[in-house]
Amino acid sequence: MKEAIFSGVQPTGIPTIGNYIGAMKSFVNLQDTFQATYCVVNQHAITVPQDPQTLRQQTKQLAALYLAIGIDPKKSTIFVQSDVPAHAQAAWLITCQIGLGELERMTQFKDKATKQEAVTAGLLCYPALMVADIILYKAKFVPVGDDQKQHLELTRNFVDRFNNRFGENILIKPEAIYPKSGARIMSLQDPTCKMSKSDKNEKAFILLLDQPQQIIKKVKSAVTDSIGLVNYDKEKQPAISNLLEIYSIFSDRSIEELVNEYHDAGYGRFKSDLADQIVSILEPIQERYQALLNSTELDDILLKGANEANEIASATLSQMEEIMGIAYR
Ligand code: AMP
Ligand code: TRP
Repeated sequence: MKEAIFSGVQPTGIPTIGNYIGAMKSFVNLQDTFQATYCVVNQHAITVPQDPQTLRQQTKQLAALYLAIGIDPKKSTIFVQSDVPAHAQAAWLITCQIGLGELERMTQFKDKATKQEAVTAGLLCYPALMVADIILYKAKFVPVGDDQKQHLELTRNFVDRFNNRFGENILIKPEAIYPKSGARIMSLQDPTCKMSKSDKNEKAFILLLDQPQQIIKKVKSAVTDSIGLVNYDKEKQPAISNLLEIYSIFSDRSIEELVNEYHDAGYGRFKSDLADQIVSILEPIQERYQALLNSTELDDILLKGANEANEIASATLSQMEEIMGIAYR
């Protein structure tokens, strides 16, 4: 039997090429080897305020993008988190066994909390829901970008604690899978910050649904340095190194090969070829996306996915409730 993997992306906007490189591209590559489950985590999204209408729309958009990038519903389960009630139910059981201090230490919580006017308890408890997502499917591996390291570590600690306390190895301890290159794609405007779809400066990121002209413009205006040579050196040339990582992933060529080709070519040609390469990958994805969004196929796939996910998740939830004394009849 194939080992299980699980991952999720929040429907908080159209994913960036950082999301794609750090996580979503691996979703496609891993689906042949593993029993894969991919979730649109809309309950995570509401840990910060969301407009209901927009949230609804973005949930479908992200599901359509999952399919458009090549996730195959015949191989993988694709579903929306809120369609499977076991996630929220298990999250409560987990919340009751996680220390307040553990949650308060999470850097993602601290970062996001400083950006909010009012910090909800949900933002603090976010990792408990993420633990639920992963353990319900008994996932052995979790493909994510490296900003999720701390959450994965928390999940692993939780699993050890749960299994020790309740004396049966019900839960599987997961491991993160990071991409070999590109686990942290940086902002095009500031190579010291992560590329994020919530960046106020739109030039800082490229979205999977950006039009070719926008992509060309954003790559052209990406910051570089005054050295003028294309080298992979994260310390001295972080901006160019970031562009090299993006180019490498989008072209399936090694960074070394790209450095050989572009070392003396000048940043202008390097950027123009990079933009063309990104467009050549994203254009067909965008065409498939448009066709899917306007079809009934998407709803059918999500319904089937929710049914498959419900079956597995509710079985694990029952096991947890049983062993914790929550099921009493
Ligand atoms: P999110 O949009 O926060 O739900 O992130 C979805 C996935 O994309 C997670 O696995 C993140 O680790 C990954 N990710 C987000 N931003 C980046 C980035 N700039 N570089 C690499 N991976 C990223
Ligand atoms: N926390 C992840 C992020 O912000 C999204 C996520 C939620 C996730 N549940 C998950 C990722 C389970 C992997 C596995 O990117």
